[in-house]
Amino acid sequence: MTERPRLTVIGTGYLGATHAICMAVMGYEVVGVDVDPVKVEKLNSGEVPFFEPGLPELLTKALETGRLRFTTSFQEAGEFGDVHFICVGTPQRRDSEAADMTYVDAAVTSLAEHLHRRVLVVGKSTVPVGTAARLAALVRELAPAGDQVELAWNPEFLREGFAVDDTMKPDRMVFGVTSAWAEQQLTAAFEPVLAQGVPVKVTDLQTAELVKVAANSFLATKISYINAMAEICEVTGADVHDLAEALAYDERIGGKFLRPGLGFGGGCLPKDIRAFTHRAEELGVGQAVGFLREIDGINRRRRARTVDLVVELCGGDVTGKRVAALGAAFKPNSDDIRDAPALDVAATLHSMGAHVVVYDPAAMANARRAHPELAYGTSALDAARDADVVVLLTEWNEFREIEPSAMAAVAAQNKIVDGRHALEPAQWRAAGWEYRALGRP
Ligand code: UDX
Repeated sequence: MTERPRLTVIGTGYLGATHAICMAVMGYEVVGVDVDPVKVEKLNSGEVPFFEPGLPELLTKALETGRLRFTTSFQEAGEFGDVHFICVGTPQRRDSEAADMTYVDAAVTSLAEHLHRRVLVVGKSTVPVGTAARLAALVRELAPAGDQVELAWNPEFLREGFAVDDTMKPDRMVFGVTSAWAEQQLTAAFEPVLAQGVPVKVTDLQTAELVKVAANSFLATKISYINAMAEICEVTGADVHDLAEALAYDERIGGKFLRPGLGFGGGCLPKDIRAFTHRAEELGVGQAVGFLREIDGINRRRRARTVDLVVELCGGDVTGKRVAALGAAFKPNSDDIRDAPALDVAATLHSMGAHVVVYDPAAMANARRAHPELAYGTSALDAARDADVVVLLTEWNEFREIEPSAMAAVAAQNKIVDGRHALEPAQWRAAGWEYRALGRP
C-alpha cells in the first residue's frame, strides 16, 4: 500500500460533507473546512446539516475513529493536507445564466496563502471549462510554495439520495491532471475506491471539466426528450408511459432517465445546462449546444402544463379552490428544494388564487422557509382534507402506497393529477377517482 495522503475537503455541502465523511470511513485522515461556523459545529457534534440517507450513521462512525474533524480555519487545513479537495458550490448567477464562481475563487484564494510545501489541489466542483487552468495559475501565484503546488480536476457525479454509494463505489472516476505526480497523488487518495475495480479515465484538465457538464446535459436531454414525446402524446391520445417502456427495451436507448412527468429540477441539472450554454457562447460555439435551450424550454413547459391540468380539473378557475400538493423536494429521498418543480407548481397555483396545502416527508422546513405563503399539512391525508384536486409532484414511496379509498374519504372531490406517473391509474379509477397524468389518455 502506498502511503496515504492527508486530505482536506473545502466546502461541506452535499458533495463536500459526503466526501469528507466517506474518505474518513475508508481510512484517511480528513479535515473538512467551511466558512459557516454553524455547519462546522453541527458536523463536529455528529449532525449532518441536510437529509441524506445513511450519512448520519457514517458521520458518527467517522468521528469515532478520530480521523475526521471540521474547522473554519484555512490555516489549519493548509498545514494539514497533502491533497486538498475543493467542493464548494457553483450556483447560477443572479444576473445571468452563467455559473457563479465566487465560492470556488474564494476557497482557492483562502487556501493558497497557507500552502508552504508540495501539495495537490483538486477541484471537484462543477465549473465552466477553462476554470482549472485559470485556478492553476492563480494558486501558483498566491501560494508561498509557488510552482510546487499543482492543480488537478476530479469531477463528482454523486446523486442526492445515493450520495454515500456514489462516493464509496462510483461507476467511474475521472482524473484531469498535468503531471504523473498528480496522477500518483490522486491514485493514493482514492486507493480503497480504485481497489474495487472502479474504472479511471486519466485525461487533461479541460476534458475532465467537460465530462461533468456533458454528462448532466445528456441526462437532462434524455428527460426532456421523453417529455417532448409526452407533449405529442397529449394531442394524439397516445400514452407516453407505454411509449417509454417500449423504447426502454432497446438497449441502445435504455430506460434510465426516461421517466416522463414534471421534469428535472435540483441544484445541478437546470443550472449546469444553462452555465454550459453560456460558456459555449463565450467560446464562440454556442450553436453546438443551442439545443440545450430547447431542453430547458421543454422542461419548463412541464411545470406550466401540470398547472394547466389542475386548472382544468378545477373547471377552468382555481380561485378559492383547495389543492393538495403532495411533494416539495425536487426528487424523493431528498429535502432539497433548489429549483424544485413541485414547489414551483404549488407556488404558481397559489398565485392564481388557489388555497394550496403542501406535504412532503422531508422538505417541509426548507419549503416553509422559501414559501411561507403556502399552507402545510402534517401528512398526505391531512393535506388532502377537503381538497378539490390532489396533485402528486414528488414521487415519494409513501405517496405510492396511499390507499385511493382512504384519500377519497377525506378529499372533497376525487380528482388527482399524477405529475410523476407514480400511481396505478386503474387502481385509482376503480376507487372512483378521476385520474389524470401528462401524456396519458
Ligand atoms: C444529478 C446527476 O444525476 C448527478 O450525476 C450529478 O452529480 C448531479 O446532478 P441529482 O441532482 O441528485 O443528480 O438528481 P437526479 O437523480 O439526477 O435527478 C434530477 C432530476 O431529474 C430530478 O428532479 C428528477 O425528478 C428528474 N428526473 C430524473 C426525471 O424527471 N425523470 C427521470 O427519468 C429521471
